[in-house]
Amino acid sequence: MASGKKYKILFITSELFPFVKTGGLADVSASLPKELAALGHEVRIVVPRYGAIDTRKFKIHDVVRLKDFSVKLGEKEVLFSVKSSFLPNIRNRVQIYFLDNEEYFGKRKSLYVDPMTGQNYSDNDERFVLFCRGVFELIKKLGWVPDIIHSNDWQTSLVPAFLKTIYKNDEIFKKTKTLTTFHNFEYGGDFPVESFKKTGLDEEFNTDEHLLHNGKLNFMKAGIIFSDFINTVSPGYRDEVLNNPALSSGLNEVLNGRKKDFFGVINGVDRAIWNPATDKFIVKNFELKTIENKYFNKKNLVERFGLSYNNATPVFSIISRLYDYKGIDLIAQSLPELMKQDIQIVLLGTGELKYLNIFDEFTKKYPSKFACYLGFNDELAHLIEAGSDFLLMPSKTEPCGLNQMYSLLYGTIPIVRKTGGLTDTVIDISAGNSTANGFVFEEYSTKALILQVQKALSLYKDKDGFQTMIKNGMKSEFSWVLSAKKYVELYKNLSAS
Ligand code: GLC
Repeated sequence: MASGKKYKILFITSELFPFVKTGGLADVSASLPKELAALGHEVRIVVPRYGAIDTRKFKIHDVVRLKDFSVKLGEKEVLFSVKSSFLPNIRNRVQIYFLDNEEYFGKRKSLYVDPMTGQNYSDNDERFVLFCRGVFELIKKLGWVPDIIHSNDWQTSLVPAFLKTIYKNDEIFKKTKTLTTFHNFEYGGDFPVESFKKTGLDEEFNTDEHLLHNGKLNFMKAGIIFSDFINTVSPGYRDEVLNNPALSSGLNEVLNGRKKDFFGVINGVDRAIWNPATDKFIVKNFELKTIENKYFNKKNLVERFGLSYNNATPVFSIISRLYDYKGIDLIAQSLPELMKQDIQIVLLGTGELKYLNIFDEFTKKYPSKFACYLGFNDELAHLIEAGSDFLLMPSKTEPCGLNQMYSLLYGTIPIVRKTGGLTDTVIDISAGNSTANGFVFEEYSTKALILQVQKALSLYKDKDGFQTMIKNGMKSEFSWVLSAKKYVELYKNLSAS
């Protein structure tokens, strides 16, 4: 256990692996608290209890004294209770509180988007105001007062705003500091100005200097302004959002105003979950010494997707939310050209309806070369990482990106665009045999992407070069310990401030 002061940290998040996940936030929300606990800190987590969470499987139980809470959403009085459980399969206890309200969370199978319309739920403002207010009511009832409240993304960005306003004279919060990590500045949590009154904040904050941005109420802006420290998930992405308005939903000026309190701590990988030597979701485990076993996974993967296996044909994979900013437009536009090559492509993901249709069409058009699973399937993601030869990740923006790191560790060579965390983790082939672990390209165009695939195809034919690059990737660390220590440094500076 590391020395130094131990902090009480309340980690607030809208998704948490393995309970409920739509993206990397869920992974980080489990692995960072776990690592902090291993360093001796007392960490507890708060997350909504969505209908999608299996209460029975995860042994989530009622807590007698955590019932009958009430908060006001504008004129409306809303009741909630809190259930509890622990992060599974870890040595140190990390308690989880599930904020439970049937109407706003329990009834919803999906987290943010209404599956009936494909649009965000129209009451997301109320849902996440309730969540953020609920956090304070919970702390008061528990009498467990955190040194640090660590929130994440727009869904929890009102927490620092409430602390500095509604709860500012509350004795018990006198020493509590806030840090908000933004995992993606693309999502601001925008709502009509009329939503402001639901926050319970004073009208003085209903202005462009405060919570309004481009004529809308913007939850993320509240987090940027009111958090003691703010953070994002790679140094590269931090620099990009400070300089490029398009990447920060136009909030770059506000971010620049907080520059000295704005950090970029890169995510790590939870090696208890993502490790080809021990992974339970793959067909055959492997490590550096037994790389040849990777090919049992390749065969199984290809067949699972209904394609026929041929070792001479490289398998490229895509694991992504299907949105333009992930570069899915490039993939969709390049596919007809890529299909002319001797390759197979498998895709796992869900997202925009137009992409679901496009990829569905492609499976019909290229039945022996392209296959997809249009949905969310974490177990399958493990097999894809283990069985593919290359991963395509041509994101327009990528705050950190986890799949490229999983790929590297699983001997799958990533082909990425030069942006954010991808730049910080993938080293282009041009760096030479001793360090290169992937392909990195800059220009956001189908031409550039297709060129990289062609380069990858040549590498695939060069057996030694291919093996060397795989090995360089598999030697990566991506340890959470280092990143968790950086977070502790931030908590320390916050406490001293
Ligand atoms: C978001 C970002 C992704 C990052 C993840 C975890 O999903 O888009 O780049 O890896 O959060 O921080």
